Amino acid sequence: MNQALLTKPEGQKRAKILALANQKGGVGKTTTAINLATALAACDRRVLIVDIDPQGNASTGLGVNRHARAVTSYDVLLGDAPIGTATVPTAVPGMSIVPASLDLSGAEIELVQSSRRREFRLRDALGAAAQDYDFILIDCPPSLNLLTLNALVAADAVLVPLQCEFYALEGLSQLVKTIERVRRAFNPALEIQGVVLTMFDRRSNLCDLVAADVRGYFGSKVYDTVIPRNVRVSEAPSHGKPVLLYDMRCAGSQAYIHLASEVLRREQGALNPEMVQ
Ligand SMILES: Nc1ncnc2c1ncn2[C@@H]1O[C@H](COP(=O)(O)OP(=O)(O)OP(=O)(O)O)[C@@H](O)[C@H]1O
Ligand SMILES: [Mg+2]
Repeated sequence: MNQALLTKPEGQKRAKILALANQKGGVGKTTTAINLATALAACDRRVLIVDIDPQGNASTGLGVNRHARAVTSYDVLLGDAPIGTATVPTAVPGMSIVPASLDLSGAEIELVQSSRRREFRLRDALGAAAQDYDFILIDCPPSLNLLTLNALVAADAVLVPLQCEFYALEGLSQLVKTIERVRRAFNPALEIQGVVLTMFDRRSNLCDLVAADVRGYFGSKVYDTVIPRNVRVSEAPSHGKPVLLYDMRCAGSQAYIHLASEVLRREQGALNPEMVQ
């Protein structure tokens, strides 16, 4: 990794908030949240993952057991707890998580019934944490519901994990429309941070074709780094660990390290354009 990326840029005072979103299920949102966060923490960045998926996969995948989830993103979203009280450390130095619990599946209904700033709950809550981190990664559920809407309103940018399969682009147009709507109604600064191709199989022609299509549509927004399908990546959550702690040398870990350096390079380029020349 480029040494310059290990040095935090001057001038970044507030966390960059990224929502990992794609309403399609099982495309690698949670895996990317956990492992990109770990790789960013390994680059000396302070990282918070906010799990707003009632499935709680990011929480489980990081070994936060159900008993350690006394206060969760549910309480934070309903305004019953400040974010700090819901934050728990992980085994990765510099990385914490606000876990989710099943209660969260009821939060949508409760939020719909409450009229007060229901789209802004996460944004309001994260305001208090933004000074304490360099990156906040929000792991969204596979739906464009009020929980995901809260993430899009809170975020600076959306990072879209995309599995190279036949209907991949079709689903994306719905997400892009939602992002545009959020921009108009709630969060004019919301950007697409990037699209990351996940579970890529180099032997599959379909993967190559879909990747070419996605690059044709999103251009340079698509990261050069492609996350390969790798069995170690899928084994790691059952050990409650990011794949970088489970098997640092495997192809999946290496890909997430590359992705983190690409994210940092682009961020530094945005803050300080001459650094990327
Ligand atoms: N690079 C990879 N190689 C192999 N398996 C992977 C890889 N990335 C993710 N997986 C596996 O694919 C499944 C779906 O991944 P993940 O849970 O990250 O997707 P998701 O988009 O968060 O799903 P959901 O929409 O349900 O939240 C998981 O079992 C995960 O372990
Ligand atoms: Mg998930």
